Amino acid sequence: MKTPNSKGQLLGLVFVFALFIISNGRTLSANNHMIKAVNLGGWLVTEGWMKPSLFDSIPNKDFLDGAALQFKSKTIGKFLAAELGGGTIIVANRSSASGWETFRLWRINATSFHMRVFNKQFLGLDSTGIKLVAIATDYKTSGVFEIIRKSDDPSLVRIKAPNGSFLQAKTQDLVTADSKGDGQWRDDDPSVFEMTIAQTLQGEYQVTNGYGPSKAPQIMNDHWNTFIVENDFNFIATSGLNAVRIPVGWWTASDPTPPKPYVGGSLQYLDKAFLWAKKYNLKVILDLHAAPGSQNGFDHSSSRDGFIEWGQTEETIQETVRVIEFFTARYANNPSLYAVELINEPNANGVSLSVLTKYYEAGYKAVRKHAPNAFVVLSNRLSGDSKELFPVASGMTNVVIDVHYYNLFSDIFNDMTVEQNIEYVRTNRSDELQAITTSTGPLTFVGEWVSEWQVRGASKEEYERFSEAQLEVYGRASFGWAYWSLKNVNNHWSMEWMIKNGYINL
Ligand SMILES: *[C@@H]1O[C@H](CO)[C@@H](O)[C@H](O)[C@H]1NC(C)=O
Ligand SMILES: *[C@@H]1O[C@H](CO)[C@@H](O)[C@H](O)[C@H]1NC(C)=O
Ligand SMILES: *[C@@H]1O[C@H](CO)[C@@H](O)[C@H](O)[C@H]1NC(C)=O
Ligand SMILES: *[C@@H]1O[C@H](CO)[C@@H](O)[C@H](O)[C@H]1NC(C)=O
Repeated sequence: MKTPNSKGQLLGLVFVFALFIISNGRTLSANNHMIKAVNLGGWLVTEGWMKPSLFDSIPNKDFLDGAALQFKSKTIGKFLAAELGGGTIIVANRSSASGWETFRLWRINATSFHMRVFNKQFLGLDSTGIKLVAIATDYKTSGVFEIIRKSDDPSLVRIKAPNGSFLQAKTQDLVTADSKGDGQWRDDDPSVFEMTIAQTLQGEYQVTNGYGPSKAPQIMNDHWNTFIVENDFNFIATSGLNAVRIPVGWWTASDPTPPKPYVGGSLQYLDKAFLWAKKYNLKVILDLHAAPGSQNGFDHSSSRDGFIEWGQTEETIQETVRVIEFFTARYANNPSLYAVELINEPNANGVSLSVLTKYYEAGYKAVRKHAPNAFVVLSNRLSGDSKELFPVASGMTNVVIDVHYYNLFSDIFNDMTVEQNIEYVRTNRSDELQAITTSTGPLTFVGEWVSEWQVRGASKEEYERFSEAQLEVYGRASFGWAYWSLKNVNNHWSMEWMIKNGYINL
């Protein structure tokens, strides 16, 4: 090697040395910066199962938006059904109930509702003003129905039609709105129906619309102010985690005056989260969990009635792009903004790959306008192919694919033992993750997982081994992982509880 004998050469050497330090530093920091995160779920996007008490004081809380009701005529003994799933008359001739026999509530207040059928039409009366039909495609031109429950048996109901009369099943193919409803709930009264609630939703739409505009603002602001506080960020930072994934809803981007029934005030808590993240040196993955119209039909996307309507109009996509741009612009100068996840868990049964690809391209550009280096996270579709986002990701830099691994929500886990669950993580999940983690493709992120399973009565030591296996396997995701979630009334779903009680050792 030549001895440096001139200023230029010396400077050159210093430069090379500096480069070495910088690049070496990058490599090191790349490892340190592997995301070990927890989801702040159930905070700015309500999920009733995580904190049921939030719904406790809603009047008639069985009848929230999206409650799926089925009605069996007391006299005929058959279920009401939207013939052909909707678009024509309502009949009373089905011996069992499923999709066509299900009516989804749109709540006006505790007792008055619009009702939506399988093919998305709303109930109303036909032009004669008597026959029950499902033909309105807009709730505004549909009927308002009052559901009256028998005081000593809430599963018996009468339904008051928009013309003030009660519905009655006259024959198997004639349901009309012309009963006085004065049969004293007797079994021979054709206006009495036996009601079953096939499904309910407990998301942000339900809690805010359930309390209504006079009560919801206080309830929601109290929840936001107490569910996650500064001390939680301190706990997260001192527990060996380095990031938070924060689920947010589209309505927060129009705070303080979001469209009804959403209520104002959520944005200041997201602002606080970013300040606390900065103070405790935590990275933030901002995750758009709820998009307008709902991208998966679940309550965690704030679906009103279980239908997936995001992406079915250009307007929902454009609005979502605006929401992404709003959040990115607002936090681009906060050093904690590490990644923006464009949409959580779009559902392949309702969102096509081509619509999603178009949105991902537009959302990516919206992030890049304000945050040239932030990671952009693309969530895989529920029930989609695990590699289907590779083509759209190939045109992007600093891009991440998010997969969610739960040993739940599929029958294959129902009868698995402790050892089989652990083996499934070590073999099947490991293989799945390896198949999508490539050196040239997008980074990979296990953005949701939990140490919960279908096993009942497992010991602490068994939970610890389950956590350990998942930490080890998901630790090979090239971007990192995030536990679902920090707080939850169900202990194993609460990372705070799991850490404090030694069920997870980081
Ligand atoms: C509920 O809404 C219906 C329809 O708008 C209205 O007629 C009724 O008075 C309301 N009931 C209550 C208790 O506010
Ligand atoms: C129910 O009634 C409709 C209308 O009359 C008829 O088209 C349909 O076949 C009937 N379905 C059953 C299961 O009887
Ligand atoms: C409502 O039902 C009654 C029968 O009880 C019927 O005579 C009347 O036409 C209906 N009213 C309207 C406004 O459609
Ligand atoms: C897990 O992977 C193993 C080995 O590849 C395979 O035999 C098994 O069927 C998989 N288990 C499930 C439940 O898919």
